[in-house]
Amino acid sequence: MTNTPLKVIVTRRLPEPVETRMRELFDVELNETDEKMDADTLADAISRADILVPTLGDTVDQKMLAHAGDNLRLIANYGAGFDHIDVQTALQRGIMVSNTPGVLTDDTADMTMAMILAVPRRLREGTMLMQQGDWQGWSPTALMGHRIGGKRLGILGMGRIGQAVAARAKAFGLQVHYHNRRRLHLDTEAALEATYWESLDQMLARVDILSIHCPHTPGTFHLLNARRLKLMKPSAFIINTARGEIVDENALTRMLRAGELAGAGLDVFEHGNDINPRLKGLDNVLLLPHMGSATVEGRIEMGEKVIINIKTFADGHRPPDQVVPSML
Ligand code: DGY
Repeated sequence: MTNTPLKVIVTRRLPEPVETRMRELFDVELNETDEKMDADTLADAISRADILVPTLGDTVDQKMLAHAGDNLRLIANYGAGFDHIDVQTALQRGIMVSNTPGVLTDDTADMTMAMILAVPRRLREGTMLMQQGDWQGWSPTALMGHRIGGKRLGILGMGRIGQAVAARAKAFGLQVHYHNRRRLHLDTEAALEATYWESLDQMLARVDILSIHCPHTPGTFHLLNARRLKLMKPSAFIINTARGEIVDENALTRMLRAGELAGAGLDVFEHGNDINPRLKGLDNVLLLPHMGSATVEGRIEMGEKVIINIKTFADGHRPPDQVVPSML
């Protein structure tokens, strides 16, 4: 590597300490306005950068990668999920990709647990009543929700976040069930008191709450399609803090409206911030603006990971969080 500072282009605003450190270390171009880059602006950035730091919402697909200059060698994604990046094409062009796993596990699991509590206990309806000034005082039958202790929680995707949710759920007295591409090591399974289901369909039919934690890949797109959603009990709840594309949002909306599912807590949506209006109108859904990992601490740690990935790469080594083909 030469001593010329690397041209690093960051597509969105990052927490202040992260931007300050980047300014000290690199020839960095920051996005002061925090406006999402349109395709032309992103193409220009990708053509000029040695290292691009994109994030969720920046589509770095095959078409975009065709704009990459010869100098682009690393895409250091700010985020754990990399479904917005065509990693295969990047690798073919000799461009490494890295992400920021691990540091947002606990925050996302906490937010998931908050939804697992909030949806069956009808917190949205309760806060609406208070904010609209409609509360008439305590009554024995008002806003009765469902106890979560003793219920069956199904976890779809038992990676870092799935396991962190399982540990929390166990403390709340939920029975943990899971479906994953690979069964966990038996010691881990025993520690989490988790029951493995090889068949997702069979697990879906038996759980009271389903929480989604698998990545979005071509193989998991609409994994929860209308057929699978129909396998669930009408009394069941769905929580999604992973990716919206895993669930057929229209089918889910139809079933929630028809009372074929009891409720949903959604932090992610199939079409980004373009949310099905019928979903927004439902009392039995809690919708959040993709804030599962939104803590000051977590977002700074994500930035620190990006910096370590870039520095390690600049020193001539593989970034510690390199995305490799076996992860795709
Ligand atoms: C990620 O990093 O992929 C998360 O979805 C952000 O919360």
